[in-house]
Amino acid sequence: MSEDKTPYESPVIIGCDHAAYPLKETIKAFLQGKGVEVIDAGCHGLNSVNYPDFAKEVAGSISNGTYKKGILLCGTGLGMSMAANRFKGVRAALVSDGFSARMSRMHNDSNILVLGARVIGESLALDLVQTWMETPFEGGRHLDRIQMFESFE
Ligand code: RB5
Repeated sequence: MSEDKTPYESPVIIGCDHAAYPLKETIKAFLQGKGVEVIDAGCHGLNSVNYPDFAKEVAGSISNGTYKKGILLCGTGLGMSMAANRFKGVRAALVSDGFSARMSRMHNDSNILVLGARVIGESLALDLVQTWMETPFEGGRHLDRIQMFESFE
């Protein structure tokens, strides 16, 4: 019998600040376990760092087309999502529930998943990553709507 495995898009670039370093390591291992190549943009420890540096690294690489999907993590997810969404073509979705994770893909074609490590637990975080990775974009009228705001300056 063949294994029923959803093929996960690969590679995925991931970045975090000190507040989310342990969660980043957990998510990285989870994705690698699914056969995903994970590009680790840091940070690499618990020493205090500035989240915009990592948002820039990840969102910049999505914006310039180097990678198609990214994950950003900080304490609340707020700073990372604010910073990431300054980049053209980036649709960073800060989510903490499964419905929003799924809809961010189906209706918004989110290309960066943002999670707050001080907001949600590890099990929920992995569940959200899984949902987000497995849910396709619906296109159609949702693409028209994305195109409407992609031209905003
Ligand atoms: C770091 O203390 C914290 O401010 C950061 O992780 C994030 O929550 C910012 O939005």
